[in-house]
Amino acid sequence: MSPLTGIRACVFDAYGTVFDFASAAARCPDVPEEKRAALTALWRDKQVQYTWLRTLQGRYADFWQVTGDALDFTLDSLGIASPALHARLMELYLTLSAFPEVPEVLRALRAAGFVTAILSNGAPAMLDAVVRGAGLDGLLDAVLSIDAVGVYKTHPRVYDYALTRLGVTAGQVSFQSSNAWDAFAASDFGMRVVWCNRYGQRRERLPGSPDHEVRSLAALPALLGPPA
Ligand code: LAC
Repeated sequence: MSPLTGIRACVFDAYGTVFDFASAAARCPDVPEEKRAALTALWRDKQVQYTWLRTLQGRYADFWQVTGDALDFTLDSLGIASPALHARLMELYLTLSAFPEVPEVLRALRAAGFVTAILSNGAPAMLDAVVRGAGLDGLLDAVLSIDAVGVYKTHPRVYDYALTRLGVTAGQVSFQSSNAWDAFAASDFGMRVVWCNRYGQRRERLPGSPDHEVRSLAALPALLGPPA
């Protein structure tokens, strides 16, 4: 396996890649156990659909609103809508667990001399809360929200924003995402991409071609040559 060379910055997607969005329903006793998997899957699907649709329509609303709207749709679909449950799950979304390997991987990357950053659809306050809650605040050089751009992934302006903020070229970025669609789009944009395929997804039939596919971020440091 050939290492990625000339990399300066390791940029991570947040939800699903660094943070486990299933941990909200898993930690909510008020969601019946047999509905947790369906709730997590539908909430996530609607959430990302709404980001794409709002971007297409030119009707930006931040990720807190989109996440809440998607949750309303989901609770309604599952027949368990209640204001208290909505509030509880939204609160839990602010303290999602990080995947277990994440702190050690970020530490190793920084020790090796790489810049570490998040590039996420998340609204700034959501990202602040979840990063702090998981104790990752000292391990990231930058936490970048698409809120500053006003469009969602996969708009190329989003990926370009990370380059501007970090002062690097696309070829100097190793971008990690568990969302196949995000990984393929970042690759098409020109970043080097490690697709962290935690969920065993199929390859997208879309432009782009991730450089590597791994099952956990633990594999990342070994894929990188020395920092540029
Ligand atoms: C994010 C979503 C797409 O963090 O996972 O941007």
